[in-house]
Amino acid sequence: MTEFKKGIFFNNISINIFNKIYLPLYIYDLKKIINNIYNIKKINFICFFSVKSNDNIFLLKIIKNTINKFDVVSIGEIEKIILINNKKSKIIFSGSGKSITELLISINLKIFCINVESIQELFKLFFLCKKYKKKINVMFRINPNIDALTQKKISTGNIYDKFGICLLNIKQIYILNKIIKNFINIIGYDFHIGSQITKLKPLKKLIFTIKILLNKKKYNLLDIGGGLGVDYFFYKKKINIKNYFFSINKILNKYNIKNKILIELGRYFFCNSCLILSKVNYLKYNKSHNLVILNLGMNDLIRPSLYNSFHKIESINIGNNFKKFFGPICESSDKYNNDDKIKVKNNSLIFFFSTGSYCKVLSSNYNSKKKIFEIIFYKNKIKIIYSKEKIFNLIKNYD
Ligand SMILES: Cc1ncc(COP(=O)(O)O)c(C=O)c1O
Repeated sequence: MTEFKKGIFFNNISINIFNKIYLPLYIYDLKKIINNIYNIKKINFICFFSVKSNDNIFLLKIIKNTINKFDVVSIGEIEKIILINNKKSKIIFSGSGKSITELLISINLKIFCINVESIQELFKLFFLCKKYKKKINVMFRINPNIDALTQKKISTGNIYDKFGICLLNIKQIYILNKIIKNFINIIGYDFHIGSQITKLKPLKKLIFTIKILLNKKKYNLLDIGGGLGVDYFFYKKKINIKNYFFSINKILNKYNIKNKILIELGRYFFCNSCLILSKVNYLKYNKSHNLVILNLGMNDLIRPSLYNSFHKIESINIGNNFKKFFGPICESSDKYNNDDKIKVKNNSLIFFFSTGSYCKVLSSNYNSKKKIFEIIFYKNKIKIIYSKEKIFNLIKNYD
């Protein structure tokens, strides 16, 4: 996307068209997005897009026009999908704390499936369906007690995580089967053990657990969740989606598991097709250590403060060497992880890579900051897909 070593270009468009007053902004590359979707469509499994990773309406429309299957975790996400698509999209409703209203709306909308995370949720759903004489598809999300070997804060499949039905309680679920079957149609097992998974070992363990479950009780579908990791570090040996799912397929075959496989990918769709362009606001020359204050804060990009995550930083390489980069928000944790010396000067443009997933969706108005622009490049054109928030948005809900 960027060729800023030779001059600052995105595709063939010069960066000079961006007036610095519009920075920071998110920049997506449609070509890369289409390429990712093309790769996903080649996988043997049925893929749902996990909306929580990026809920920009323009990007959701791309998903609607390509795979048209969504994994959601709130009614707000369902409403967004209905907004872009009157016709039916396939929707799975995941999430550990669904409210009665959310369950009721999902039942009335006849969404494809609700992934139930506890026996209590199953009861709630059963009584609602019985009361309103409706029937709904359900998958049981199981907590398999498996370490996804990823960041602790994005692991979801260990026994002490809040997600899923504990394996020890599975017998109770099977007993309930008979009582609820007139209103609840159980179609499968569901698992999501974590995000940014880069190793196959946890998946091997998961499939072994699945085999044991299938021996106890068979259902048609197996939803093995999302989690495919992306390369934030720009290693030469990249994580290859084709090899990853090919290996999973091989393990499934080894255990003779013939079920239809669903996946709920989020991060893979947009992560590496987006970067943030920001600029240096101040350079501070302290006696012991020098530092850079950017105009990009944790309100716009919270992953480093929240998860200690890494985003590759680059500048146009003019100026003095700096290693420590901070945002303008009034918090000490408003800082970025970086080990390299990067040459910057006052007003330098600074790029943050791999910012298409779990970045804009997690942004906030902290310090009464307005949410920033998102733009997309396609065929040498630029389109604004989110306009910078106006002050009216920040104050309209006060009496
Ligand atoms: C239930 C569920 N499904 C799918 C995903 C998507 O995961 P990823 O973005 O790592 O592919 C998540 C994200 O954590 C999730 O919680």
